[in-house]
Amino acid sequence: MAMRLAALPGDGIGPEVTDAALRVLTVATSRFGASVELERYPVGWEGYRVAGAPLPPETERAVGRADAVFLGAVGDPRADELPPALRPESGLLRLRKILDCYANLRPTLVLDPLVETSPLRAERIRGTDFLIVRELASGLYYGEPRGVNRDADDTEAVNTLRYRASEIRRVAHVAFEAARERDRRVVSVDKANVLEASRLWREVVADVGSAYPDIELEHMLVDRAAMELVLRPRAFDVILTENLFGDILSDEAAGVAGSIGLLPSACLGPSAALYEPVHGSAPDIAGQGIANPIAAILSVALLFHYTAGRPEIGAAIESAVHEVLSSGMRPADLARPGERASGTREITASVCEALRAS
Ligand code: NAD
Ligand code: IPM
Ligand code: MN
Repeated sequence: MAMRLAALPGDGIGPEVTDAALRVLTVATSRFGASVELERYPVGWEGYRVAGAPLPPETERAVGRADAVFLGAVGDPRADELPPALRPESGLLRLRKILDCYANLRPTLVLDPLVETSPLRAERIRGTDFLIVRELASGLYYGEPRGVNRDADDTEAVNTLRYRASEIRRVAHVAFEAARERDRRVVSVDKANVLEASRLWREVVADVGSAYPDIELEHMLVDRAAMELVLRPRAFDVILTENLFGDILSDEAAGVAGSIGLLPSACLGPSAALYEPVHGSAPDIAGQGIANPIAAILSVALLFHYTAGRPEIGAAIESAVHEVLSSGMRPADLARPGERASGTREITASVCEALRAS
């Protein structure tokens, strides 16, 4: 049976990195014998432009039929003046909600050839390999009430940080299960010294953790976690955290790795999984052919691990990326002064070549 994949290229560099990811996917399927039915649909600013909504009904229906969804990126400065419901980011949040993909896995790996690229010293980061498990379907992003209240005297804006125990429990299980396949350590990140929602988070995670006596569990406050991530990134194995903290810590992780153009993600839940690079639409470099496609390509590798049940294909894609970086080829965001930078298509072609030869 062919896997049905809905590709949502989106905005800015989204189409460029999606094109790269799908080229690699096509080579992988022919090299290893897998079958994928692929269709593209608009989302984000592009969805608004062509169909009047950041998640057009046609896209929503396609996602409902799909086994997996790939999203490039959403976001465009031209949308700044639109009402919240029409903004590109609303389309992505709605998509995540529809899929109920509550567990966002964001692996961060400092590959040996890139140790010198990180702003941190090599001896601090060599061997860094951790996984952020970010809750993705609840918390401050979705809590009600929300909105802006204006009156003659003043204006207030409200968002609500709400978590149910059941929502914490299900994502905690994903983190502990993931730790079983790794180094068996979970750091749960919260702000339990201030927030009720975090106190519930800590209580539920501790309770879930008691069913995993083989996994070491540590609770850490988010401000300290932000510091430890820079001081001792190697000390982390699985980082389990809520929606907003996970968003912020994963961009910090990108800084540790050297560029946000490197980090892939998989969003898992009861429906089709959503694969998306951690980075955004990067309007500052869109259309120049210089976007780093590696985050998107590694997101395709995650698709083979999680949705397709073909981990050997995922591993082959990861090896191909590693090989290209080991050869010294560098996208613009990773090239150091004096180093030659390769464009999106050149990097992608080399990954495809390495994959064909594997
Ligand atoms: P961003 O991730 O788009 O860009 C941050 C910086 O990293 C920029 O300098 C950009 O040029 C660079 N960068 C990002 N991806 C890169 C890549 N693949 N190769 C090389 N350089 C890369 O974050 P931002 O600037 O804060 O946000 C821009 C827009 O993207 C906003 O509208 C935001 O809402 C949206 N966004 C979308 C997603 C998503 O679709 N999943 C994620 C994050 C941000
Ligand atoms: C991410 C992005 C999104 C988020 C935005 C675009 C809604 O920053 O995927 O990290 O905050 O989840
Ligand atoms: Mn983010």
